[in-house]
Amino acid sequence: MSSYDSLLEEIKSRIDIVDLISQYVNLKRAGQNFKALCPFHSEKTPSFVVSPAKQIFHCFGCGEGGDIFTFLIKHEGLTYREAVKELASRAGVELKGFKGEAGRDEKALLLKLNRDALTFFQESLMKDQRARGYLEERGIGRDAQRMFSIGFAPASWDALRSYLEGRGYRTELLIKAGFIAKGTKGYYDVFRNRLIFPIYSLRGDVVAFGGRALDDSMPKYLNSPETVLFNKGRVLYGLNLARDSIRRTGYALLMEGYIDVIISHLYGFTNAVAPLGTAITEDHGRLIKRFTDRVVLVFDGDQAGIMAAKRATSLLLLAGVDVRLLCLPEGDDPDSFLRRDGADAFRDLLERPLSIVDFLMRYGKDRLTIARDAIEMLSKIPDALIQGSYIKMLSERLGINEFFIIEELKKVRGRVRRGEAAEGPVDSHGKRPLDEIYIIRLLLQMPERVADVFETISPEDFSDDLLRSIFNRMRRGVPDPDRLLLECHEEEKRVLSEVMLMDDFEEPDKVLRDCLNRMVIKRQRAMLEDLQSQIREAEQKGDSDRLLRLLQLKQEAILKGRRA
Ligand code: GTP
Ligand code: MN
Repeated sequence: MSSYDSLLEEIKSRIDIVDLISQYVNLKRAGQNFKALCPFHSEKTPSFVVSPAKQIFHCFGCGEGGDIFTFLIKHEGLTYREAVKELASRAGVELKGFKGEAGRDEKALLLKLNRDALTFFQESLMKDQRARGYLEERGIGRDAQRMFSIGFAPASWDALRSYLEGRGYRTELLIKAGFIAKGTKGYYDVFRNRLIFPIYSLRGDVVAFGGRALDDSMPKYLNSPETVLFNKGRVLYGLNLARDSIRRTGYALLMEGYIDVIISHLYGFTNAVAPLGTAITEDHGRLIKRFTDRVVLVFDGDQAGIMAAKRATSLLLLAGVDVRLLCLPEGDDPDSFLRRDGADAFRDLLERPLSIVDFLMRYGKDRLTIARDAIEMLSKIPDALIQGSYIKMLSERLGINEFFIIEELKKVRGRVRRGEAAEGPVDSHGKRPLDEIYIIRLLLQMPERVADVFETISPEDFSDDLLRSIFNRMRRGVPDPDRLLLECHEEEKRVLSEVMLMDDFEEPDKVLRDCLNRMVIKRQRAMLEDLQSQIREAEQKGDSDRLLRLLQLKQEAILKGRRA
């Protein structure tokens, strides 16, 4: 524990959260806790809870929650540092000599590390004729290489490591940033013989790297792990370059791959962005919404592509983004399409993208299935006016009276509110997966089970970003809840405070077993789907070696699934 952390603990031990909040809010005792009308949103019945035992607050209405620091930050509009300073002085704790949130130093250091690594990758590209030749062949010339700061990781086991250690970076930091990993013969560079696509934040910082294999080693693409800088569900490749163009054209062109984005920009479609090899999330939608509220989603017209497009559309709609869809000929991606047919052909497609309703009509089975799918999707649209216009369209196209569509919509909405959404159980906010919430809660109740849990599932199995990072913090053992809360970012505290307020489970072992089972099944399904799409690709390309290997992997995966 750093001395800064112990300082925060000292402050917390001296200030009682009930005393603090009472200065601002009229608290009434309710059993072990205190209740009040929430100061953070307007309400008529109290859903704001303060727990003296746990020293946390949480509002079940708006989801705000955390510790004494969080409360001051939110209530007084202070920064984290200001809140610490204020509370330190109230508690009579000496603050001198401390610079601020511990995480901040790590962020700055990682940023510098990434900048240095990028320099190495770019210099390596300069020196490697073959890698440059590959890029040229794919239509990515010198200017484009510079524009996207493309680099290259040489086929060496330690070139990057010695370069960075020569600049004074510690081994642990290189591990954390995902540059090196430990094998049987010691540490080795993770990115080898790969083209490197740096991933920029909106502020223009390099927060991660994507690396494409130049030979047929697997995986084809390798991304940096998540760090304090990088959350892959919240970054879009190319957005730093595309933001102005997105504002200007009034929509974002959302596609799948790094290379698709690069080639699109080169052909003049400078509003192109892509997620980092992951499915589109609602967070991606919110990110886009900062620049526009319209997306054209480019997808591959095969079965997997259509499924992915459906899912992405729902999530984007949920974030309040309007979606239209552009279907490419089967087997094409924007890169292959543009390079073969040119910009005008692509512009033609862009002039008449499919509306959600047309999309479902084109790929749906029968009238009733289409109607149900559409209603499910339309239920996600927060804007009543936009929703209304789709209802009208659906009614006209399918010849179903608007009245019936609206009736069904009401039912779907009711189901969502009662937590029975099609995606499985969800919590009161209708978003976070219950299994993931329960696992965190169960680990707080049974910290001794943490090793078992980490043997069965890993942070990547979590779909909720905040729950995942809280889970990640338990990797080296479950800290007691107080400590855990101190380590968390303010966003995480909102969730953690809610989880902490849940009652203990009566049969925790059984619940844990069930949750773990479901998560494992979910992962196996996703893995099979991924393999299946790679298999299709290998078939299309007639790559029989890869196909064989993939089919083998699939066999193994299925066998493993049966055993589990
Ligand atoms: P090329 O094959 O070089 O044309 O690149 P691409 O971008 O078209 O690749 P592809 O269509 O196979 O994949 C689209 C995107 O999915 C990539 O840009 C990556 O972001 C991601 N992706 C593909 N394969 C993998 C993989 O094996 N692992 C991970 N993490 N992501 C992948
Ligand atoms: Mn491609």
